[in-house]
Amino acid sequence: MYLTPYQEKILNGEYGWIYAKAFELIVKIGEVLGAEKLISVNHVHVSGVSYSNIGDYGLEFIKEFYVKGGLAKVYTTVNPGCIDLSNSSRLISNMFYNKQLEINNYLEKMGFKPTYTCIPYLHRRPVLNEHLAWGESSAVIFANSIYGARTNREGGPLTIASALTGYTYYHGLHLDRERVIDTVISIENIESKYYGLIGLWIGENIENKPLIKNAVNDYSSLKILLASAAASGDHGLIAIDKITPKKSYYMSDKIEKINIELKDIEKYQSKTLEFDLKDSKIIGFIGCPHLDPVEFTEIYDYIVNIYSRGRCRLRNYLLISVPYIYNELFINEINVLRRIGVEVTLGTCPIVSTISEKPDYVITNSGKAYFYLKKHKNIEVYLSTPFEIIRQLCE
Ligand code: F3S
Repeated sequence: MYLTPYQEKILNGEYGWIYAKAFELIVKIGEVLGAEKLISVNHVHVSGVSYSNIGDYGLEFIKEFYVKGGLAKVYTTVNPGCIDLSNSSRLISNMFYNKQLEINNYLEKMGFKPTYTCIPYLHRRPVLNEHLAWGESSAVIFANSIYGARTNREGGPLTIASALTGYTYYHGLHLDRERVIDTVISIENIESKYYGLIGLWIGENIENKPLIKNAVNDYSSLKILLASAAASGDHGLIAIDKITPKKSYYMSDKIEKINIELKDIEKYQSKTLEFDLKDSKIIGFIGCPHLDPVEFTEIYDYIVNIYSRGRCRLRNYLLISVPYIYNELFINEINVLRRIGVEVTLGTCPIVSTISEKPDYVITNSGKAYFYLKKHKNIEVYLSTPFEIIRQLCE
C-alpha cells in the first residue's frame, strides 16, 4: 500500500504510540483487502460499543486508547449502547449500566460526541461523494443511498482507529467501480407499509447492487427498507431512482430486471400481515433505526390525540427508541408520553439490550428489528405500521 511520508511517520510512531497502533490497524485491514492507499474522512461513526456485545475485553480495548492519550482527529459520533441513558425504563435492564457508562466516558474523553444514536445524519448530514468511516449498517446504507456519500460498513475497532487518525483504507464503496448498479428492481403498486418486508426480501435474495424503481418519496419508509436490507443481507448501497444523487452511482451495461409484487413478499413472510394478538403479552417497538424529529413528533401527536379523546389506554408495553439528544430537544414531550405509560428510551439500542419482560410477541415497524429479534432472540415478531402498532396496544 502506498503511504505518504506523513503517514509513514504516523505508522513509525513519531506522533505517539497510540496513533501508530490505530494507524497500523487501518493499514493492515486495507492491505488484506488490496487497497492501494488510504484516504482521509470527514466524519466517523463509531459502532460496536455496546457492553452487552463487546464485554470486558472490548471495554479494556477502548480504555487503552483513552489511557494512552488517544484523541479524535475528526468529527466522531457514537452508536447507542445497551442501556437506557435516562435510566427510567421498566423494560430495558440496567444490569450493565455502570459498564456501559464507563465505555461512554472513555469515548467522550477522547473527544467523541455523545450522540448515542444510529441516525448520525441527524447531527451531521453527509454530502455528495464525501468519504466517511461509519459503522452501523443502517446508517451506512442511508449515507450511501440517500446522500450519495461514500462509506463501507466498518467494524467497531476500525471506526475507533479512523476517529483517532482521520483515515480509512481506499477500497469498496469508496471506489467508483464498486458503485455500479447491475440489477433494477421495480416495486410499483406496493404500499409503503410493506417496505420492511421488501428490504428483508432484497437483503436475502439479491447479491448484486440494486437500484429500486417506483419507490415512494417518503424518507421514513425508505429508511425502514434500507435498514432491513442491510440487516438481512450485506448491502451498503441500494440506489433509489429519483432520490439517490445521480453522480454517486453508475449503471452497468448489463442490467437484470426484477419485478417485486405483493404476492412475492406475502408468500415470503405471510405471517407478518395478519393479527390476532388479543390477550397476549405484547411489546410494540418503534424506533429501529431511531426516530428522527419529524417521525417522533408525528407519533407523539398521534398518541396524545387518541389518549386525550379517551380512545386509548395502553395495554402491555409501547417502546419508543430515540437519540440521546432528545433529552434536550423533546424532554417535555417525552415526559408526557411517559405519564401516559409509553416507554421512551434515550440513546438505547433495544436489540442489544437485555429486556426484562419476555413478551409473547413483538410488533414493530422495523424489518431490521424483526430480523434480529426473530433470529437471535427467538421472539415471535410481527411487522406493522407505527400507527397500527399503537392502535393494537390500546384498549
Ligand atoms: Fe439502531 Fe439498534 Fe436498530 S442500533 S438500527 S435501534 S438494531
